[in-house]
Amino acid sequence: MPYSEITAGSIFYTVGRGPTEEQRSEGRPVLILVHGAGGNHLQWPAELRRLPEATVYALDLPGHGRSGGQGRDTIAGYAEAIVGFLDALGIERAVVVGHSMGGAIALTLALDFADRMAGLVLIATGARLRVAPVILEGMRSDFEGSVELITRFAWSSEASPALIELGRRALLETGPDVLLGDLNVCDRFDVMERLGGIEIPALVIVGTADQLTPPKYARFLAEHIPNAQLVLIEGAGHMVMLERPAEIAGAVREFLE
Ligand code: COA
Repeated sequence: MPYSEITAGSIFYTVGRGPTEEQRSEGRPVLILVHGAGGNHLQWPAELRRLPEATVYALDLPGHGRSGGQGRDTIAGYAEAIVGFLDALGIERAVVVGHSMGGAIALTLALDFADRMAGLVLIATGARLRVAPVILEGMRSDFEGSVELITRFAWSSEASPALIELGRRALLETGPDVLLGDLNVCDRFDVMERLGGIEIPALVIVGTADQLTPPKYARFLAEHIPNAQLVLIEGAGHMVMLERPAEIAGAVREFLE
Protein backbone atom coordinates (compact mmCIF):
# COMPACT_ATOMS: atom_id res chain seq x y z
CA MET A 1 0.00 0.00 0.00
CA PRO A 2 1.51 3.38 -0.94
CA TYR A 3 2.51 5.42 2.10
CA SER A 4 4.22 8.78 1.96
CA GLU A 5 5.41 11.72 4.05
CA ILE A 6 4.72 15.19 2.68
CA THR A 7 4.04 18.79 3.73
CA ALA A 8 1.10 21.04 2.81
CA GLY A 9 2.15 24.61 3.50
CA SER A 10 3.93 24.23 6.82
CA ILE A 11 1.94 21.18 7.93
CA PHE A 12 3.79 17.86 7.86
CA TYR A 13 1.67 14.76 7.25
CA THR A 14 1.76 11.13 6.27
CA VAL A 15 -0.81 9.58 3.99
CA GLY A 16 -1.78 5.92 3.85
CA ARG A 17 -3.61 5.45 0.59
CA GLY A 18 -5.89 2.50 1.14
CA PRO A 19 -8.37 2.52 -1.74
CA THR A 20 -7.36 2.90 -5.36
CA GLU A 21 -7.93 6.19 -7.22
CA GLU A 22 -11.14 4.71 -8.68
CA GLN A 23 -12.45 3.68 -5.25
CA ARG A 24 -11.65 7.15 -3.89
CA SER A 25 -13.63 8.81 -6.65
CA GLU A 26 -16.53 6.51 -5.68
CA GLY A 27 -16.60 8.27 -2.34
CA ARG A 28 -14.35 6.13 -0.12
CA PRO A 29 -13.76 8.03 3.12
CA VAL A 30 -10.94 10.43 3.89
CA LEU A 31 -9.74 10.33 7.51
CA ILE A 32 -7.75 13.08 9.22
CA LEU A 33 -5.99 11.96 12.42
CA VAL A 34 -5.42 14.81 14.90
CA HIS A 35 -3.09 14.11 17.82
CA GLY A 36 -3.29 15.39 21.39
CA ALA A 37 -1.40 17.94 23.52
CA GLY A 38 2.34 18.05 22.82
CA GLY A 39 1.99 15.14 20.39
CA ASN A 40 2.69 14.36 16.76
CA HIS A 41 1.43 11.96 14.05
CA LEU A 42 3.29 9.03 15.65
CA GLN A 43 0.76 9.01 18.48
CA TRP A 44 -1.37 7.09 15.97
CA PRO A 45 -0.72 3.37 15.50
CA ALA A 46 0.03 1.97 12.05
CA GLU A 47 -3.28 0.05 12.22
CA LEU A 48 -5.08 3.41 11.89
CA ARG A 49 -2.57 5.34 9.77
CA ARG A 50 -2.72 2.56 7.18
CA LEU A 51 -6.39 1.58 7.47
CA PRO A 52 -7.08 -0.12 4.14
CA GLU A 53 -10.69 1.12 3.82
CA ALA A 54 -9.83 4.83 3.72
CA THR A 55 -7.32 7.45 2.65
CA VAL A 56 -5.77 8.39 5.99
CA TYR A 57 -3.88 11.62 6.66
CA ALA A 58 -1.99 11.82 9.97
CA LEU A 59 -0.66 15.32 10.54
CA ASP A 60 1.55 17.20 12.97
CA LEU A 61 -0.29 20.27 14.28
CA PRO A 62 1.45 23.65 13.74
CA GLY A 63 4.50 23.96 16.01
CA HIS A 64 4.53 20.18 16.68
CA GLY A 65 6.66 17.31 15.38
CA ARG A 66 7.97 18.12 11.91
CA SER A 67 5.46 20.90 11.13
CA GLY A 68 6.53 24.51 11.02
CA GLY A 69 4.85 27.50 12.62
CA GLN A 70 3.78 27.97 16.20
CA GLY A 71 1.29 26.20 18.43
CA ARG A 72 -2.08 28.03 18.54
CA ASP A 73 -3.45 29.61 21.69
CA THR A 74 -7.03 28.39 21.23
CA ILE A 75 -8.70 25.20 20.07
CA ALA A 76 -10.48 27.32 17.44
CA GLY A 77 -7.04 28.38 16.14
CA TYR A 78 -6.06 24.73 15.67
CA ALA A 79 -9.44 24.01 14.00
CA GLU A 80 -8.75 26.80 11.50
CA ALA A 81 -5.33 25.28 10.78
CA ILE A 82 -7.06 21.95 9.93
CA VAL A 83 -9.47 23.74 7.60
CA GLY A 84 -6.42 25.33 5.91
CA PHE A 85 -4.93 21.83 5.57
CA LEU A 86 -8.14 20.51 3.94
CA ASP A 87 -8.16 23.48 1.56
CA ALA A 88 -4.49 22.98 0.64
CA LEU A 89 -5.16 19.35 -0.28
CA GLY A 90 -8.50 20.02 -1.99
CA ILE A 91 -10.36 17.79 0.48
CA GLU A 92 -14.01 18.79 0.59
CA ARG A 93 -15.17 16.65 3.54
CA ALA A 94 -13.38 14.33 5.93
CA VAL A 95 -13.99 12.14 8.94
CA VAL A 96 -11.90 13.80 11.64
CA VAL A 97 -10.45 11.48 14.28
CA GLY A 98 -9.18 13.33 17.35
CA HIS A 99 -7.39 12.16 20.46
CA SER A 100 -7.66 14.21 23.68
CA MET A 101 -6.86 17.82 22.60
CA GLY A 102 -7.32 16.55 19.02
CA GLY A 103 -10.84 15.54 20.03
CA ALA A 104 -11.51 19.10 21.20
CA ILE A 105 -10.33 20.31 17.79
CA ALA A 106 -12.58 17.75 16.06
CA LEU A 107 -15.59 18.85 18.15
CA THR A 108 -14.91 22.47 17.23
CA LEU A 109 -14.72 21.56 13.53
CA ALA A 110 -18.04 19.71 13.83
CA LEU A 111 -19.63 22.77 15.43
CA ASP A 112 -18.10 25.56 13.36
CA PHE A 113 -17.15 23.92 10.04
CA ALA A 114 -19.80 21.19 9.75
CA ASP A 115 -19.85 21.48 5.95
CA ARG A 116 -16.25 20.14 5.85
CA MET A 117 -16.99 17.13 8.03
CA ALA A 118 -18.32 13.69 7.10
CA GLY A 119 -18.04 12.23 10.60
CA LEU A 120 -16.42 12.55 13.97
CA VAL A 121 -14.36 10.05 15.95
CA LEU A 122 -13.64 11.20 19.49
CA ILE A 123 -10.98 9.19 21.31
CA ALA A 124 -10.16 9.77 25.01
CA THR A 125 -11.50 13.30 25.07
CA GLY A 126 -14.28 15.48 26.44
CA ALA A 127 -16.49 18.52 25.87
CA ARG A 128 -14.55 20.28 28.62
CA LEU A 129 -10.88 19.56 29.33
CA ARG A 130 -9.82 21.22 32.58
CA VAL A 131 -6.24 20.33 33.44
CA ALA A 132 -5.22 19.52 37.02
CA PRO A 133 -3.39 22.54 38.54
CA VAL A 134 -0.58 20.25 39.73
CA ILE A 135 0.21 19.49 36.07
CA LEU A 136 -0.08 23.11 34.87
CA GLU A 137 2.04 24.50 37.70
CA GLY A 138 4.55 21.65 37.51
CA MET A 139 5.02 22.29 33.80
CA ARG A 140 6.38 25.76 34.65
CA SER A 141 8.57 24.85 37.64
CA ASP A 142 9.68 21.25 36.99
CA PHE A 143 9.15 20.15 33.39
CA GLU A 144 10.71 16.69 33.74
CA GLY A 145 8.81 15.95 36.97
CA SER A 146 5.60 17.06 35.33
CA VAL A 147 6.21 14.80 32.33
CA GLU A 148 6.68 11.91 34.80
CA LEU A 149 3.33 12.79 36.37
CA ILE A 150 1.50 12.95 33.03
CA THR A 151 3.14 9.65 32.03
CA ARG A 152 1.89 8.00 35.24
CA PHE A 153 -1.67 9.14 34.51
CA ALA A 154 -1.61 8.52 30.75
CA TRP A 155 -1.17 4.74 30.57
CA SER A 156 -3.00 1.80 32.12
CA SER A 157 -1.21 -0.79 34.24
CA GLU A 158 -1.46 -3.15 31.25
CA ALA A 159 0.55 -0.93 28.85
CA SER A 160 3.98 -2.17 27.79
CA PRO A 161 6.89 -0.45 29.59
CA ALA A 162 8.65 0.08 26.23
CA LEU A 163 5.63 1.96 24.87
CA ILE A 164 5.35 4.06 28.04
CA GLU A 165 9.05 4.96 27.77
CA LEU A 166 8.64 5.99 24.11
CA GLY A 167 5.69 8.20 25.09
CA ARG A 168 7.65 9.77 27.95
CA ARG A 169 10.60 10.55 25.68
CA ALA A 170 8.31 12.04 23.02
CA LEU A 171 6.84 14.45 25.60
CA LEU A 172 10.33 15.44 26.80
CA GLU A 173 11.40 16.09 23.19
CA THR A 174 8.33 18.30 22.65
CA GLY A 175 9.61 20.64 25.36
CA PRO A 176 7.82 22.77 27.95
CA ASP A 177 6.66 25.64 25.73
CA VAL A 178 4.54 23.64 23.28
CA LEU A 179 3.21 21.27 25.94
CA LEU A 180 2.28 24.02 28.40
CA GLY A 181 0.72 26.03 25.56
CA ASP A 182 -1.47 23.05 24.61
CA LEU A 183 -2.46 22.29 28.20
CA ASN A 184 -3.53 25.90 28.68
CA VAL A 185 -5.54 25.67 25.46
CA CYS A 186 -7.24 22.50 26.80
CA ASP A 187 -7.91 24.09 30.18
CA ARG A 188 -9.92 26.88 28.50
CA PHE A 189 -11.91 24.55 26.21
CA ASP A 190 -15.61 24.06 26.97
CA VAL A 191 -18.38 23.13 24.54
CA MET A 192 -20.54 21.23 27.05
CA GLU A 193 -23.55 23.44 26.27
CA ARG A 194 -23.14 23.18 22.48
CA LEU A 195 -23.08 19.43 21.80
CA GLY A 196 -26.76 19.32 20.75
CA GLY A 197 -25.79 21.34 17.67
CA ILE A 198 -23.60 18.57 16.19
CA GLU A 199 -25.43 17.03 13.26
CA ILE A 200 -22.88 14.58 11.87
CA PRO A 201 -22.50 10.99 13.13
CA ALA A 202 -20.01 10.52 15.96
CA LEU A 203 -18.12 7.60 17.41
CA VAL A 204 -16.92 8.10 21.00
CA ILE A 205 -14.19 5.80 22.33
CA VAL A 206 -12.68 5.65 25.81
CA GLY A 207 -10.61 3.24 27.88
CA THR A 208 -12.31 2.32 31.14
CA ALA A 209 -9.03 3.00 33.03
CA ASP A 210 -8.50 6.49 31.51
CA GLN A 211 -7.45 8.84 34.33
CA LEU A 212 -6.93 12.02 32.28
CA THR A 213 -10.26 12.04 30.43
CA PRO A 214 -12.35 9.57 32.43
CA PRO A 215 -15.24 7.53 30.97
CA LYS A 216 -17.67 10.06 32.50
CA TYR A 217 -16.51 12.58 29.84
CA ALA A 218 -17.13 10.09 27.02
CA ARG A 219 -20.59 9.20 28.37
CA PHE A 220 -21.44 12.89 28.44
CA LEU A 221 -20.39 13.21 24.78
CA ALA A 222 -22.36 10.12 23.73
CA GLU A 223 -25.47 11.26 25.63
CA HIS A 224 -25.46 14.84 24.31
CA ILE A 225 -24.32 14.49 20.68
CA PRO A 226 -27.56 13.58 18.87
CA ASN A 227 -26.14 10.85 16.59
CA ALA A 228 -23.38 9.24 18.67
CA GLN A 229 -22.33 5.76 19.68
CA LEU A 230 -20.05 4.88 22.57
CA VAL A 231 -17.36 2.19 22.59
CA LEU A 232 -15.68 1.31 25.91
CA ILE A 233 -12.28 -0.37 25.76
CA GLU A 234 -12.04 -2.42 28.94
CA GLY A 235 -8.94 -1.74 31.03
CA ALA A 236 -7.26 0.73 28.64
CA GLY A 237 -5.83 4.11 29.66
CA HIS A 238 -5.69 7.55 28.04
CA MET A 239 -3.32 6.42 25.26
CA VAL A 240 -5.94 3.84 24.27
CA MET A 241 -5.13 3.88 20.53
CA LEU A 242 -1.54 2.83 21.21
CA GLU A 243 -2.47 0.40 23.98
CA ARG A 244 -5.18 -1.37 21.94
CA PRO A 245 -4.65 -0.48 18.25
CA ALA A 246 -6.51 -3.44 16.73
CA GLU A 247 -9.69 -2.75 18.74
CA ILE A 248 -9.60 0.96 17.88
CA ALA A 249 -9.05 0.26 14.16
CA GLY A 250 -11.91 -2.27 14.29
CA ALA A 251 -14.27 0.25 15.90
CA VAL A 252 -13.35 2.94 13.34
CA ARG A 253 -13.79 0.46 10.47
CA GLU A 254 -17.29 -0.47 11.71
CA PHE A 255 -18.17 3.21 12.09
CA LEU A 256 -17.10 3.90 8.48
CA GLU A 257 -19.34 1.10 7.24
N1 COA B 1 -17.61 15.83 30.58
C1 COA B 1 -18.50 15.60 31.57
N2 COA B 1 -18.40 16.14 32.80
C2 COA B 1 -17.34 16.94 33.03
C3 COA B 1 -16.39 17.22 32.05
C4 COA B 1 -16.56 16.64 30.77
N3 COA B 1 -15.71 16.86 29.78
N4 COA B 1 -15.44 18.05 32.55
C5 COA B 1 -15.82 18.28 33.82
N5 COA B 1 -16.94 17.60 34.10
C6 COA B 1 -17.66 17.60 35.37
C7 COA B 1 -16.78 17.12 36.51
O1 COA B 1 -16.80 15.72 36.62
C8 COA B 1 -17.39 17.81 37.67
O2 COA B 1 -18.55 17.11 38.04
P1 COA B 1 -18.98 16.98 39.59
O3 COA B 1 -19.21 18.38 40.05
O4 COA B 1 -20.20 16.13 39.55
O5 COA B 1 -17.82 16.31 40.26
C9 COA B 1 -17.82 19.16 37.08
O6 COA B 1 -18.01 18.93 35.68
C10 COA B 1 -16.78 20.27 37.25
O7 COA B 1 -15.52 19.73 36.83
P2 COA B 1 -14.25 20.59 36.36
O8 COA B 1 -14.70 21.64 35.44
O9 COA B 1 -13.25 19.64 35.81
O10 COA B 1 -13.72 21.32 37.63
P3 COA B 1 -13.21 20.72 39.01
O11 COA B 1 -12.76 21.90 39.78
O12 COA B 1 -14.23 19.80 39.59
O13 COA B 1 -11.90 19.81 38.64
C11 COA B 1 -9.73 19.21 37.73
C12 COA B 1 -10.75 20.33 37.98
C13 COA B 1 -8.63 19.74 36.84
C14 COA B 1 -9.17 18.64 39.02
C15 COA B 1 -10.45 18.05 36.98
O14 COA B 1 -10.99 18.57 35.80
C16 COA B 1 -9.60 16.86 36.62
O15 COA B 1 -9.27 16.04 37.46
N6 COA B 1 -9.27 16.72 35.29
C17 COA B 1 -8.64 15.53 34.75
C18 COA B 1 -7.15 15.52 34.87
C19 COA B 1 -6.44 16.28 33.80
O16 COA B 1 -5.64 17.14 34.09
N7 COA B 1 -6.68 15.96 32.53
C20 COA B 1 -6.01 16.59 31.42
C21 COA B 1 -6.97 16.71 30.29
S1 COA B 1 -6.12 17.28 28.83
